[in-house]
Formats: sequence, C-alpha cells, structure tokens
Amino acid sequence: MLYFQLHKENSIPLYEQLYIGIKNAISKQQLAVGARLPSKRELADFFSISQTTVELAYAQLLAEGFIMSKPRVGYFVEEIDELPFIVPVNAEINSMAEEKPTYAIDFSSAQIDENSFPFTIWRKYAKDVLDTPFKHLLQTGERQGELALRSEIANYLHQSRGIKCTPEQIVIGSGTEQLLPMILKLFDDHAKLALENPGYSPIHRDQLKQRAIPVPIDTDGLIIEELQKTAANLVYVTPSHQFPTGAVLSANRRTQLLKWAAQAPNRYIIEDDYDSEFRYTGKPIPALQGLDQNERVIYLSTFTKSLMPSLRVAFFVLPPALLKRYQTDFTYYSATVPRFEQHILARFMKDGHFSKHLNRMRKIYRKKHDKLIEIFSSQFPEVHISGDAAGTHLLISVPHHQNEQQLHDIALKQGIHIAPLSNYTLTANPYRERVFLLGFGNIPLTLLESYIQQLMACWGIHKKK
Ligand SMILES: Cc1ncc(COP(=O)(O)O)c(C=O)c1O
Repeated sequence: MLYFQLHKENSIPLYEQLYIGIKNAISKQQLAVGARLPSKRELADFFSISQTTVELAYAQLLAEGFIMSKPRVGYFVEEIDELPFIVPVNAEINSMAEEKPTYAIDFSSAQIDENSFPFTIWRKYAKDVLDTPFKHLLQTGERQGELALRSEIANYLHQSRGIKCTPEQIVIGSGTEQLLPMILKLFDDHAKLALENPGYSPIHRDQLKQRAIPVPIDTDGLIIEELQKTAANLVYVTPSHQFPTGAVLSANRRTQLLKWAAQAPNRYIIEDDYDSEFRYTGKPIPALQGLDQNERVIYLSTFTKSLMPSLRVAFFVLPPALLKRYQTDFTYYSATVPRFEQHILARFMKDGHFSKHLNRMRKIYRKKHDKLIEIFSSQFPEVHISGDAAGTHLLISVPHHQNEQQLHDIALKQGIHIAPLSNYTLTANPYRERVFLLGFGNIPLTLLESYIQQLMACWGIHKKK
C-alpha cells in the first residue's frame, strides 16, 4: 500500500510528491511487481487531490517505466531490473582527494607575494572586459592566443629581454607544464632531450624521464662539454637563473651552447626564462634568444612568477622554421587560456601596469632577499647561501649529520615546509651537503627573521652569540 503523505504547503508540486512516493514504494519493493495501482479516482479521493494531479504523476511513472498501463484494466507495477551496486565514485574520489597541505611556515619556491597584487587595477580591467561590448569574446579565439596579448608580449620581450620576434611567432598556453610537451611534439619521437640535472621537476615526473638525458650543472650552469658527449638534439635550459640552483649560465658557456645548436641540423635549445624579471646583482642577463644568429632557440616564459601562478599564462616564441612546422601540425589545437583572461592581461600590459608592477615587486623581493642574506650572515654564518642573484628563492647548504630527507621531516613536524634539492635531481643526488630551496616570495618581510630562527632551531643550529 502507499504509506506516504502529501504536503499541500510544500514547494514541491503535489503531482511530483505523488510520483516520488510511488516510485520509492516500487524501488523499495513495498509495491510488488505486477501489483495493480489504485485507479486515478480512488487515489484522488484517498489523498483528496484532483484526478489531473494523479494523471500527471502516473504519466511520469509510465514514461520512466516504473508502471505499465493495460487499457481499460488499470495501472500495474513494472518489473525493474535491480541496478547493480556501484560504489559511489564520488565518495571514492572524495576520500582520495587530498587537500593541498597548509603549513605554519612555507618556504616553497612556488609562492609569490600575495599581499602586493594590484587587485583594484586588475578588477577594473576584468570588469571592462566582462561586458557586452566584448561579447565576441564568447566565441572561439585565435589558436595561438589573442593577437592583442601576443603583441603586448612581443613588445615587452623586445624592450626588457632583447628578444627579436613578431606576435606571429608567439604561442600562448596555460603554463610551462602544458607548453613544454607541446614544443616536444614539434619533433619526432626519436628526438633526444637533454635536461639540466638538477632541474625543473615537472618534466622529470612524466614519461619524458625515459627520453631525457640528464646533464650536470656547476656554478656556471649547464656543463656544455657534458652535453656534447650526449646524443641529444634538444636541450632544455634555464640560463638566466638555473632552477633550482640559481646558477647563471656564463658568457662563455652561452656561446658554446649556441655553437652546439648550430653544429647539426634540427638541434634546438629550449630557453626557459621563467623568473629573469627579478635580478639582484649585476646587469640583467640578456636572453640567449637575442644572441642567437642561427634561429635555434625556442624561448619559453611565463607570468607565473611575474604576476601570479594561478593565472596559468605562459608562452613560447618559435624560430621561423619551427613556426611553419607548428602551423601545419597544430591546426587542431585551440588556445588553452580563456579569451577574457588574455584580454584582461593584454590591457593591463598595454596601459603600463605590468612594468609598474614588476618595478614594485623587484623592490619588495629585493628587500626580502637582502634581509635573508643579512640574517644568515649575522646569525647563522655556518649556513652557506648560493643561487641568490635572482628570483624568489635561494639555496642554503646546512652542515648537519642528518640527511636531507630527515631534516625535511624534522621541519615538517614543526609545520615548516622546505624542499630539499634532491627533489629536483634526475639521478642520485650528486651533492654531499644538505641543500634546501628557501623560497621567500610570500613570506612577509617582518616575519623572515623569526621564521628562519624557527627553522634553524628545529635543526639544532644555534644562533651566533
Ligand atoms: C624553471 C621553471 N619554469 C617554469 C615555471 C612556471 O611554470 P608554469 O608556467 O607552468 O606555472 C617554474 C615555476 O616555478 C619554474 O621553476
């Protein structure tokens, strides 16, 4: 029988309440297969509702196959196959989904200063763009990215990095992680990629590891003699600020590297210039691309450090021969960055806010950088600092009997996150010292000293008297 009630004051229409009630009774087998349902009139009288309401509910149950109608006889419960029991996928996913960990102190090198972002200006451009005059942006955009943004990037690269390129040579995508595999697709499967070791980790983790040839680096950056010994025809480098060691590729090695590329057909250098905007010592290092006479450099950069990692905007500049290849092979590829975001950024750049922001951030990061050096040299002189000429992280070498992993774990127990250099090596860690990447991007200047003291205290390194 039907053991449910209808609630006239409920916002769910009566016919729907009736439909749900009967459907539940069938699913729970309170109504047996083949059982005859009350006639429309009987049910209308029983619930004191109109026959039309019953008719609507029965029509829905009929349409969904819960009941069948025998003309002039009545309505009967249909046989419904039991649904196989499936572990709710969402429940599984939810239990697996790890929340991004939060730390009391985070020395991650991936963080930018979140207190200095020009929200007011960004919001203004976002508001401008998200309006009907820009309704055409709802349609698909240009495959290589919006021309407005590519033009701004080309201007910026020319002025600040000495890069010769036209907007046509630029391809925009949602991050270095996404663009690097795309660059590799321009070459056949036999292409051999040399990577700096230690180096940028997202490339190491995936299947590229099998194709990748690790090449050691020293304080002058990639060791070109070692590269020459390999069968590589592609090399990925971070010449202006090697990630993670911070080494700057020396002038001599730059020339050697460009020569290496020119020595054989189809040899290319992928130059990742991810954080050259923030330089603290010496003159800005010109990009390799600007020095190259043979069109063998693929320049790659990102707005992750200069603006924000969550924007997911990066780009590469292709030399003419590869541009042709790209334009024939990638006709099916659409830009992966939303058009609205691209136009917000283009306007932000066009009106000079990007340069202003960089100037401001340079000062902010420089203060933090100088403060860090001062803290270590005056309080913890036995900790050696390196790779501090640019960027938002530096390396610290810690004299200790415990190994890097143990030191990492000790810090983590105190809620302090700091990454060991060995996280970024392709081969067994070649370093004898305990080396860590100390990111300072998002640590407030006023807290730097106490955070360093806490880190040192948990490792048992005492402050100099
Ligand atoms: C060497 C290097 N390249 C690029 C990036 C930025 O990557 P993405 O553009 O995917 O955010 C980083 C980020 O830390 C990096 O260390």
